[in-house]
Amino acid sequence: MSRTYLLCPPSHFDVSYAINPWMDTSAPVDTALALRQWRDLCEALTAHGHTVHTLDAEPGLPDMVYAANGAFMVDGTVYGARFRYPQRQPEAASHEKWFRAAGWRFVAPTETNEGEGDFAYVPGPGLILAGYGYRTDPRAHAEAGEALGRPVISLKLVDDRFYHLDTALAVLDDHTITYLPQAFSASSRKMLRQLFPGAVVADEADGLAFGLNLVSDGVNVFLNAEARGMAAKLSARGFTVVPVDLSELKKGGGSVKCCISELRF
Ligand code: ARG
Repeated sequence: MSRTYLLCPPSHFDVSYAINPWMDTSAPVDTALALRQWRDLCEALTAHGHTVHTLDAEPGLPDMVYAANGAFMVDGTVYGARFRYPQRQPEAASHEKWFRAAGWRFVAPTETNEGEGDFAYVPGPGLILAGYGYRTDPRAHAEAGEALGRPVISLKLVDDRFYHLDTALAVLDDHTITYLPQAFSASSRKMLRQLFPGAVVADEADGLAFGLNLVSDGVNVFLNAEARGMAAKLSARGFTVVPVDLSELKKGGGSVKCCISELRF
């Protein structure tokens, strides 16, 4: 099925501050390479029949390429983001402006939340999965449920290398998810086991290769090229893996999913 995505080019990408354990401000960043890799990601999406919209990158906002964090949208309603760290806070206004100009119903948040970084939607049961522990305030989970009219399952993240839900869990099709159990608290693991007995269970190597930070259209899975173990698991389950090399963007602590905000009508 054809999907619609919003991405933002890494025109001003850099690692000039560190707000997650992946970011090393002393490591050199190749912005031109990041842009080439990002363009290849866009081409992979459009080559599979998906629509890509782009948000203009702004100078001084080096993390803006991680467009997933700017909003969370279900059933045509957008629940806006409110970033945890001051360095990223101005990004929210750019997303809001884009969604309002495009005519979407926009609900402004009062609670801290980082959009699709910590919110995922499972279309089959119509469930919102929501992470907390590092970025999104659990109070935003209730606010999102109220804004979007879908039940929300709160999941606690416990490993700071997997600081956003989308680094530890991904939705593969209407009913199937994949997740890294040890990134969640024991109770959250129990909930995930109960709700998704057929999940693709990832291991730490998959997580560290950003193998959970994927985007799936239900058939094709756009996956960080480095995540070969995850690629094998997904192929074994009948998914077609589309590897994308985003090595440069990993320096900011993100990969495929972080770069993509999904517009759900
Ligand atoms: N440097 C960014 C941050 O720490 C990376 C965000 C990654 N995005 C994501 N959806 N996980 O905020």
